[in-house]
Amino acid sequence: MHPRFAKILDQLPTSLRDVVTPMLGDDFAASFSQDQIQQLLAASQLAERELRLALLPLAAACSVAPISRFFVGAIACGLSGRWYLGANMEFAGQGLFHSVHAEQSAISNAWLSGETGISEITVNYTPCGHCRQFMNELSTAKALKVSLPDTISTLQAFLPHSFGPADLDISDALMSPQHHDLTLSSDDALVLAALAAARQSYAPYSQDFAAVALEFNDGRIFCGRYAENAAFNPSLPPMQMACAHAVLNGADLGEVRRAVLIENSKGQISQQDAARSVLKALGKVELEYQAV
Ligand code: THU
Ligand code: ZN
Repeated sequence: MHPRFAKILDQLPTSLRDVVTPMLGDDFAASFSQDQIQQLLAASQLAERELRLALLPLAAACSVAPISRFFVGAIACGLSGRWYLGANMEFAGQGLFHSVHAEQSAISNAWLSGETGISEITVNYTPCGHCRQFMNELSTAKALKVSLPDTISTLQAFLPHSFGPADLDISDALMSPQHHDLTLSSDDALVLAALAAARQSYAPYSQDFAAVALEFNDGRIFCGRYAENAAFNPSLPPMQMACAHAVLNGADLGEVRRAVLIENSKGQISQQDAARSVLKALGKVELEYQAV
């Protein structure tokens, strides 16, 4: 088990701790299957919303917050029935705008795992305006519920008079399946992973279909897809998503040995400079880049 979980197990009710502990082995991918959820419900005797609230300390334990020391955890319910953890991540020494919020991390986790929407998100603190706007881009934004320790409400109640994709005449939505026609020939597994992720990225405003693939010293690969937003600034760049996903899976960002960014050569913007500045915070790895 990753030491970050061992440290907070005493924050879980005993009946839950005994059943969840064996699920947190080294292959734990920061999500729970329906089978596991049924076991946790039966053992804890909690209702679903209460169970997610009880599991939040596991999500918050994944937080990397060297600047704020404010540890946020989130759990997104995928439409498939699987639950996905997320946590905030800050980059020491870099601009605050590079930060990933716990809600974005959980949603990225669900999206990268093949979900096409989320029905509910549970968070240990109220979502900030940036996250409310980020979530208003989702395929399920109209029905999405936000569950907090003391209340549950719809996203739309948290974000009245909202601005969203329809205001820019976009009918597409974040997490709806994307298949962009980007091609390149390579036998490099990391490049191919980045290409596959870029094909599934969401960039209806700039057409900068883009993704990052990170390779770690132990050979593991984690990707991040670009997730654009109608209000532009809350867009989640691919480097941030890749880092957040790797951290959720227990990887140490100091162990990145290669980083590849692939993006559409016909897009209106580029992720190159932003990706390099995040990478600088991680060490001496040079960004490998191809526009296709
Ligand atoms: N934070 C979240 O993760 N979600 C929110 O909606 C509130 C703020 C994080 C961002 C930053 O890492 C820290 O909390 C302080 O704002
Ligand atoms: Zn936020």
